[in-house]
Amino acid sequence: MSLQEYYEDSFKSDQGRGPSDMMAEVVQSTKGLANYALECKTKFLSDIDWQDMKVLEMGSGRGGLGLHLARLGSDVTLVDFSPSALEQGGRLFALESFTPKIIKADVTHPDVSLPDKYDLIVDSHLLHCLITDPERFSYLQLVRDHLKDNGIFIAETMVHRKKLYIPDGFMFDPNNVLWQMFGEWKPVRRILDSLDLEKELNEAGFNITYYMYYANYGFVPHPTFMEIPSEILPASVRMVLRKKQI
Ligand SMILES: C[S@@+](CC[C@H](N)C(=O)[O-])C[C@H]1O[C@@H](n2cnc3c(N)ncnc32)[C@H](O)[C@@H]1O
Repeated sequence: MSLQEYYEDSFKSDQGRGPSDMMAEVVQSTKGLANYALECKTKFLSDIDWQDMKVLEMGSGRGGLGLHLARLGSDVTLVDFSPSALEQGGRLFALESFTPKIIKADVTHPDVSLPDKYDLIVDSHLLHCLITDPERFSYLQLVRDHLKDNGIFIAETMVHRKKLYIPDGFMFDPNNVLWQMFGEWKPVRRILDSLDLEKELNEAGFNITYYMYYANYGFVPHPTFMEIPSEILPASVRMVLRKKQI
């Protein structure tokens, strides 16, 4: 099973859930990053109103983050490669009479092109799902190509420092790829050392405007989570990037 099929299956298995239950979960799980986006818009995009903003959510899933921003009046486009995620996202937006543009695309594909340029591009946990260097580079070029010159890219992603705690059922290889056992080993995350992530972003043509550590995570619920030293858990960073002007 490919990673795309895995995501599609997991969104599909949620098809029967009630809309209010799904809405509550989607809104709650993206609230923290939405607040960060609000803070960063005030700091770095103060000359434009939310009502005039074009926002692109990459790897949107059901578009929870985009929904927070649609509520502020922005024009939101959702991109994901899972048709079920996009269909569920469209229904959640419709509950509040929003009509996002919805695009099904693999963001790592070099031929993908999107119809617009955006003031704000957001990524909630997509980047660490992209495994190989060429895929990640291609994705970052897609972001660059569709960001307005004065636009900002806000992302939350996993990083690690030093040694990483790996629970049963996972394996972490020397290329920083996390593998999970689903009957066979599958690559599920690329968790770079924080300094390597900064280097990658620089080489892809971005300036890092704001970079903050936000939390430490486990990959799976773990009974002794509280006893694991936080420095060997994967960390999450929130960051704001701008295009280097060439
Ligand atoms: C970890 S989920 C995050 C979903 C959502 N952004 C959130 O924060 O709840 C990663 C999302 O990225 C999508 N995705 C992963 N790889 C992708 C790719 N190459 N192209 C487009 N979407 C992708 C998955 O379908 C999934 O919806």
